[in-house]
Amino acid sequence: MPFGILGMGSACPENVLTNQDLEKMVDTSDEWIRTRSGIAERRIADHNTATSDIASQAGRKAIEDAGLTPADIDLIIVCTLTPDYQLPATACQVMENLEIPNCMAFDLNAACTGWLYGMICAKGLWVTGGCRHALVIGADCLTKITNFKDRATCVLFGDGAGAAVLGEVEEGRGILSHHVSCDGRMFRHIMVPGGGSRKPFSREVLEADEQFIQMDGNDVFKFAVRIMPETLRLVLDKAGLAVSDLDWVIPHQANLRIIENGIKRLDIPAERVIINLERFGNTSAASVGIALDEAYRAGRVKRGHTLGLVAFGGGLTWGGMIVRL
Ligand code: UT7
Repeated sequence: MPFGILGMGSACPENVLTNQDLEKMVDTSDEWIRTRSGIAERRIADHNTATSDIASQAGRKAIEDAGLTPADIDLIIVCTLTPDYQLPATACQVMENLEIPNCMAFDLNAACTGWLYGMICAKGLWVTGGCRHALVIGADCLTKITNFKDRATCVLFGDGAGAAVLGEVEEGRGILSHHVSCDGRMFRHIMVPGGGSRKPFSREVLEADEQFIQMDGNDVFKFAVRIMPETLRLVLDKAGLAVSDLDWVIPHQANLRIIENGIKRLDIPAERVIINLERFGNTSAASVGIALDEAYRAGRVKRGHTLGLVAFGGGLTWGGMIVRL
């Protein structure tokens, strides 16, 4: 039985932080941010908004789009590295917000690759009879753990949520192939050193700004430029498809130069790649889901289209998936 996407949804905070706003906060320029990353503005959650709020909004839309009701959902996975609390999982609060009566609910942290990891986990549970309708949400409020004194990172990140309801789909559709992986030797390249069990919150952690994301941008860039096209090629091969069979490629929206480099390596026409990072920045686990939902609601991505989804992130993790919608 094929397993695939029944409905999609996304949500972002309304507040916009532009490059011009950032020019007033750190030593940077609109020109530098645009040429190095392709980002012009990003959405930023206010003090009253947490990951579960936008995750719930995206999830509600995905359930509606699937033509289901909350009671039909029997698995929620919130893929996030910015949970509302250390305990309980953000998925529990999403469950309450959406008034889902009875289901399995947990969080999954695979950083920016999280949403793809989540969909594969849902597929595994579905195949073994663990669920019928899974709500998989990639949601992050990265700006809550961003150091707005660090110009190397604060210009890149934004907040948002992308969701899908997954379940049985008709023959010929669904997830046609996938590959997700991680190289733990590179775990230090993107990390939040403080606030966990290694270095619990303390005055020292706060004084050293270790509650914020730290990143070796250049190393991650080199890794991403290699792994994105390699992974897309691998999942195409697994599905027995060629680049020309794809209607759309939807990559993780981290940096325009990473995306352009990858599509050039695979000879993918630029007009078949969904890119929205100019308006949202890097929204971590949400980025692929937001790009997919936006393009779907705009009538660009349609039912029956074949999509190549590909992402990378902290861990370092990566993953790809061929989906026929
Ligand atoms: O979801 C996964 C998350 N991570 C990523 O995707 C990150 C991948 N990496 C990147 O996207 C890029 O490496 C960055 C956008 C982070 C940086 O671009 P870059 O072309 O690799 O720049 P760089 O780090 O080599 O820095 C070049 C220069 C440096 O100055 P010097 O040493 O040449 O004088 C930096 O200090 O640019 C400086 N710089 C800035 N200047 C103005 C770094 N950040 C800024 C800034 N504004 N915001």
